[in-house]
Amino acid sequence: MADPAHTGPRHVAIIMDGNGRWATQRGRPRLFGHHAGARRVREVVETCPDIGVEYLTIFAFSTENWKRTQVEVAGLMSLFRRYITKEARALNEFGARVRFIGDRVRLDKKLIALMDELEALTAHNTSVHLTIALNYGGRDEVARATKRLAEDVASGKLDPETVDEETLPKYLDTYVLPDPDLVIRTSGEARISNFLLWQSAYAEYEFIDTLWPDFGRAEFTALCENYGGRDRRFGGVKP
Ligand code: FPP
Repeated sequence: MADPAHTGPRHVAIIMDGNGRWATQRGRPRLFGHHAGARRVREVVETCPDIGVEYLTIFAFSTENWKRTQVEVAGLMSLFRRYITKEARALNEFGARVRFIGDRVRLDKKLIALMDELEALTAHNTSVHLTIALNYGGRDEVARATKRLAEDVASGKLDPETVDEETLPKYLDTYVLPDPDLVIRTSGEARISNFLLWQSAYAEYEFIDTLWPDFGRAEFTALCENYGGRDRRFGGVKP
């Protein structure tokens, strides 16, 4: 049950940026930064219940990231496979419910099988809902949702006259999640890069200079506390 006195964000989404620069600053290859970045995820996940965050959604790989070098893409895919294999037990013991969003068609079968297994393993957990966006793009998600919506109209399952703002979200990958309250992007870039476009219409944003491998519990907690003091009006005026 949500605590009515809780003023912090219920759902935080994070664009984990800056791994490459973090590695370059140390004279190391970019993948070194991605590995360091993956090691930061657990701490952030484990902070969530302590600060009232029920949903955490993290951007691991975008539909645009395929444009990176073949070495980096292959390295990231291998990192995701290793991450899921290595972290499954800890995430499950912690009580995290893990979901993946994004288009799976371009992902390799072994990775998809691991994703399915982790979702099934953690399906009954409730301490925090961790959603990992993998081959995810907001426009791609809306396009895929629209296609399925159109199919339902064509087959007579959906009356186009009834389509409103509540209809499309039911076809999005995030259909079981509440909209994010707070979106954080690390590494000093003030862009949203195609992340949760529909869902973040009323989200607050925090763009911070910290590179993702340096991000942790203290900064995450401070950003969520800062959110608690904000006045969100969703386009209306204060009563
Ligand atoms: C952006 O840094 C980061 C990514 C494209 C990958 C995000 C992946 C991780 C944090 C690690 C794995 C996560 C999980 C869930 C296993 P960048 O390469 O764009 O950095 P740069 O802007 O400094 O080049």
